[in-house]
Amino acid sequence: MTTSVRGGQLARLLGQWHSLPGRHKRPDYDALAGAVRGLLADSRLPLGTRLPAERELAESLGISRTTVSAAYRSLRETGHLTSRRGAGSWTTLPTGHRVGSSGLWAPDDDVDMIDMGVAASAAPVELVAAARAAADDLPRYLGSAGYHPTGLAELRAAVAEGYAARGVPTSAEQILITSGTQQALDLVLRLSVPAGAPVLVESPTYPNALAALSARRARISTHGLDPRTGWDAELLLGALRQTRPRLAYLIPEFQNPTGHLMPAGLRERLVGAAHATGTELVIDESFVDLPLDGAPMPPPVAVFDRHSRVVSIGGMSKAYWGGLRIGWVRASAPLVQRLAALRVGVDMSSPVLEQLVAVRLLAQEQTIVAARRAQLEFRRDALVAALTELLPEWRVCVPGGGVTLWAELDGPISSALARAAEDVGVRLAPGPRFGLDGTLERFVRLPFTLAADDLTEAVRRIAAVRHDLDRTSRPAWGTPAVIA
Ligand SMILES: Cc1ncc(COP(=O)(O)O)c(C=O)c1O
Repeated sequence: MTTSVRGGQLARLLGQWHSLPGRHKRPDYDALAGAVRGLLADSRLPLGTRLPAERELAESLGISRTTVSAAYRSLRETGHLTSRRGAGSWTTLPTGHRVGSSGLWAPDDDVDMIDMGVAASAAPVELVAAARAAADDLPRYLGSAGYHPTGLAELRAAVAEGYAARGVPTSAEQILITSGTQQALDLVLRLSVPAGAPVLVESPTYPNALAALSARRARISTHGLDPRTGWDAELLLGALRQTRPRLAYLIPEFQNPTGHLMPAGLRERLVGAAHATGTELVIDESFVDLPLDGAPMPPPVAVFDRHSRVVSIGGMSKAYWGGLRIGWVRASAPLVQRLAALRVGVDMSSPVLEQLVAVRLLAQEQTIVAARRAQLEFRRDALVAALTELLPEWRVCVPGGGVTLWAELDGPISSALARAAEDVGVRLAPGPRFGLDGTLERFVRLPFTLAADDLTEAVRRIAAVRHDLDRTSRPAWGTPAVIA
């Protein structure tokens, strides 16, 4: 899908391109082309974006048109730009780059492996008692067939109360219980995204969401997040207006993988823009329970929704346990009914016993979530301390919540690093898994859900293999520039 970037927007994305180290050796056109390649490699500038006309970019950057012409020529030569006379120039990647489509999952095969590919915690201690108590609740349901396509009324009510407590008045009829957040997303996509429909997602984003979108054969365009600052309001809203997607899938709370939290102002503007473009906003709240360090939370995106543009999805996998497979959709009551009708054709309904366990756990929310936050703070700090000590050349932006950290590496080595780490017993999810086109090689996602000792040991092993890495795996066009 073609979007375009204006001269001023590209200038802002490029930042300090001309004063990068090495300027004295590199002509300006070369530095500019290198900076554009860096933006592409980091997925900040989506593939298929129309770049500004040479004259416009020259004006925005305050440089000569000849310099921009030479930079565009250099980009064409390396396969990063395709131009057609009279029509413009589009970003591309050199042939040979992989297009990822599979989700993030690894077999549970090796008990000695420190698995940092999965961003989810072990169960809370309260789980066994909750499961026993739920078994005692079970007889209340055994007299019926046990199919409840929208979910058990008591669980729907408990989830609705959670939304009301966060400032979004919600009735139980607005809640559909699903098998995890993943099924919530899948059902919403089945209903709203016919094959070929345009969809906007963040880049990087959650790989299993990309897999669900691929399965629906959506036409995906991306908004590139800044690894340090997150969403660029103007570019995100501009992408919405330009592509007018059927649906936008976003993770505003401690985004997976970057850990960023979307500010309240952008939430409000996003809902307004989605209303104007007729876009359904699917807001994945998987990490909403997990602000760390006592940080205050902005209002949920649904607070700003006056036109039923927002469908919120969430679940219990991150604050409680993924093995419960309890998630939900919050939407208008009629939409919940349509989703329930669809889900009957998929898996009929969620298991009764697990839903009863969920009710028991939600009744102890305060205690369980507080303990989870304290655990994650401790583990995040241990991971950051190990990285600072053993891999000081990597840049990390310490997340204020969630369970993942998006580390900026010292080169486009993420896939090679993941392969080498596997050999020393650490499973990693390399950066390209979180994008669409084989970009994001300068990043790796590091969850802090394992015990602190395991995280420290994993970093020690990663640091050891990092220093032996075969640098020939770097692309021929060299290290992307670091963009400020
Ligand atoms: C952003 C996001 N959405 C959805 C999921 C899937 O969650 P669930 O286990 O609730 O299906 C995850 C799990 O990692 C996630 O990070």
